[in-house]
Amino acid sequence: MSKSARARDVTAALEFRRATKQFDPSIELPDTELDGIVAAAGLAPSSYNLQHWQVVAIREPARRVELAAAAFGQQSVADASCVLVLAADPDAWQLARERWDHLPAGKRDRLAANIEAFYAGAPQLARDEAMRSVSMFAMALMLVAAERGWQSCPYIGFDPAAVRAIAGFPPTWVVVLLVAIGHSAAAPTPRPPRRRVDGFLHRERWAPPDSAP
Ligand SMILES: Cc1cc2nc3c(=O)[nH]c(=O)nc-3n(C[C@H](O)[C@H](O)[C@H](O)COP(=O)(O)O)c2cc1C
Repeated sequence: MSKSARARDVTAALEFRRATKQFDPSIELPDTELDGIVAAAGLAPSSYNLQHWQVVAIREPARRVELAAAAFGQQSVADASCVLVLAADPDAWQLARERWDHLPAGKRDRLAANIEAFYAGAPQLARDEAMRSVSMFAMALMLVAAERGWQSCPYIGFDPAAVRAIAGFPPTWVVVLLVAIGHSAAAPTPRPPRRRVDGFLHRERWAPPDSAP
């Protein structure tokens, strides 16, 4: 790749993406789109490339209705073309050897030993890492969907036990987010304003607003 190579359209995808509240239920998400979006999102970074994400795609209308009930009745969950249930595997560090199997055996074993030493006996760290990595995957999903002309919405408003039962995830995995994908059924409302950059960007060291020079 040349030094000047750059991805040009990420800002456009960020501007296009909205947390869409009304989806057109008549639109289906084709298999090729689902696979393409999920594969591209899989390029997201993850701690030690452990790729802690696990995904169940729910597209059948009756299953989306069931999921909407577990999401406190949010109608957009029922109306989206597909809802991805994202889980994080806090024990993904135990798969370090598998993830790095492309390396020569000696190198792979040394790296896997480092990874295991880092996470073994540190369940809070392992969970935090899994949540960080799955959050990166979720954002990548929404940006790739936007690039392909799909709107999306992330959700934390759901009953984790009910969603876990619908998705069929094992008990040790954390249900992180739902991400709905579909076509908007209405013109977007004005985007809720973002803070000014100088309200949260600090140079070299954080300072409370009133002490800024
Ligand atoms: C972690 C997270 C959880 C969210 N949960 C919900 C949700 O349960 N239901 C919903 O309608 N929107 C949800 N949202 C969307 C936010 O309301 C939305 O991103 C925010 O208001 C900014 O609007 P915008 O994304 O259109 O710019 C969630 C967003 C995030 C990042």
